[in-house]
Amino acid sequence: MAEYALTVTTGNMLHAGTFDNVYVTLLGEEGQSNRTKLTGVSLVNEKVGMFSVTSAFTLGFLLLLQVEKDPLHEFEDKAWFCSTVSVRTPEDDDVFFPCYKWLFRGDLVLLRGGRATKAFEDFYPRLEDQRKKELVQQKLTYKWDEYAEGMAYVLSIKDVSSLPPEAHFSFSKALEFEYRIKFATDELTETGILHTTARWENFEDMKNVSWFTKSSLAETVSQLWKNDDFFAYQFLNGVNPYVIRRCSKLPSNFPVTDEMVKPFMADGTTLTEEMENGNIFILDYKIMEDLPTTVMDGKQVPLSAPICLLYMTPEKKLLPLAIQLGQQPSKDNPIFLPSDSEVDWLLAKLHVRHVDTLYCLLVTHLQNTHLVAEVFAMATLRNLPTIHPLYKLLIPHHRSTLFVNTVARAVLYGPGRFFDNSSISAEGQLPLLRRALAQLTYVSLCPPDDIAARGLESIPNFYHRDDALRVWNVINGFVKAVVAYYYPLDIEVAADSELQQWVNEIFNYGFLGNAASGFPSSVQNVKELIKFVTMLIFTTSARHTAVNGAQLDFLSWIPNGPLLLHLAPPTIKGTATMDDILMTLPNKSFGSITTALNWFLGEKYDDFVPLGQYPQLFSEPAVLRMIEDFQEELSTIGGAIEKRNEELQLPYLYLNPKEIENSATI
Ligand code: FE2
Repeated sequence: MAEYALTVTTGNMLHAGTFDNVYVTLLGEEGQSNRTKLTGVSLVNEKVGMFSVTSAFTLGFLLLLQVEKDPLHEFEDKAWFCSTVSVRTPEDDDVFFPCYKWLFRGDLVLLRGGRATKAFEDFYPRLEDQRKKELVQQKLTYKWDEYAEGMAYVLSIKDVSSLPPEAHFSFSKALEFEYRIKFATDELTETGILHTTARWENFEDMKNVSWFTKSSLAETVSQLWKNDDFFAYQFLNGVNPYVIRRCSKLPSNFPVTDEMVKPFMADGTTLTEEMENGNIFILDYKIMEDLPTTVMDGKQVPLSAPICLLYMTPEKKLLPLAIQLGQQPSKDNPIFLPSDSEVDWLLAKLHVRHVDTLYCLLVTHLQNTHLVAEVFAMATLRNLPTIHPLYKLLIPHHRSTLFVNTVARAVLYGPGRFFDNSSISAEGQLPLLRRALAQLTYVSLCPPDDIAARGLESIPNFYHRDDALRVWNVINGFVKAVVAYYYPLDIEVAADSELQQWVNEIFNYGFLGNAASGFPSSVQNVKELIKFVTMLIFTTSARHTAVNGAQLDFLSWIPNGPLLLHLAPPTIKGTATMDDILMTLPNKSFGSITTALNWFLGEKYDDFVPLGQYPQLFSEPAVLRMIEDFQEELSTIGGAIEKRNEELQLPYLYLNPKEIENSATI
């Protein structure tokens, strides 16, 4: 008689336990064990159960662990979240089987245990067969759907209740999510704001919606929003630090002259000289040009496509020099300057903030993190079996992404959804997202390359860059260690058919086979694979947090983050009044709802998992040590970031590793 000792862990989330009958069977190269019942009392929350499974003979190498939930039981079905099973064999070997699945009555799962393997390393026909069957099933569960022509493909499931249970929010997050919706809706209803079309009478009124904003930085933003240096600062360290680039030559459609900007520059210098010296920067929102806008009161609301010039002074302060709100220069499209009337200059900056906020939410946040992250998650789930080393490495970085994106499609964008009330109607969102995808490059998602491409290597006070590079380097070091462990030779990368199919699906479904994007359609060596995986982890964690986390602070003050403006910018200087600014800003209802959305998305949820904290999926001691080293290095750079922040008037908080969430979950 051979005896196998099992240690079974149940998830530590709410309602993870069960009293139902669960049976396990060990399948080895020499045969299988007795089908053994695990007593339900040991499978309740946060419990570790110890069980014994016997066999008439030793099973040899353990291939699979079969876990079944009894189809028959007298009480109502109570799902069980099985986290892991460890098996001590009669030969005193430990074999670790990660599960992390909800099991319902009648479910049967076959778990792979032991070392992570690539397809060509599975020598047992049973394992080869199981590997193929698992992927066939995954491809049936997670099917691609073309959301719209020219956009990235998405998960075909439209109703979140149809998603597999592992893809759902945790019970605690679901409760918190529902609570926030109810709290915001009740408050907006009770104050009569929800359905009013009234406009703001003064700026003080806007502070009455600040109950959403539990952030001291948001309060600071409400004080600084009119300042030129704060306006410019945000393009480096605000919610959208991805548009600014160095300007060495003015675009032909932006005829700023030396004379225009001379009064705002250091004595004795010229625009041409400062461009040569690398002190001139530009924001160009051409992507917004001619998008269909929302119709309100029978008229289309305005949407600019601004170009803004910025200057780094000798005192290392970035300041705006000139703003042109349309792409085509004309007398009706003046170049606004800091010497214009306070109202004209403020209106010009307000229109830039408006466009930057829309760009930030729809392109930077939605397209370049959530939709990209969905493609990565889909490709992983469809092409990498659970025993594949890259599945184990990446699956924590896909947590909740499919769920939150499915919710976003149902409530945020598309006809009749939230963004339909912004300046960019559903009709305008599609061309914007198409343009954004067509312009998205591999370079832009890899911070060292992106910073170089935008000429921002040496611009001072760019804390986002400094922290992004730190985080990238630490992720890269970790990925390098893990990938080198599983792929000691380039030929193993090229020969891994599952890996190649994974990369190929990302290229074809995420980037529509666009070779000009620079995204690879295959990876041929270890170096290419390390970079690709680093990009994926950085995008789903750090890049998403940088935008998601900063929304609450930077966009909650309505004039600093308007998603809708009612009045077009002045075409003749000197005619606008301060009242025009209030009439330009989003009405009370939409402005307040937008603030609520920022709170809803930006405030951390209780089941937040920071970068580098993983459920145990690997069992190889060398890899577990790599994870510990990764966590230690993240903690070290977190300490350095906190020390730097102590010396800053405005700390940059969003890429401190303990604030970075492992995946795009909200
Ligand atoms: Fe997000």
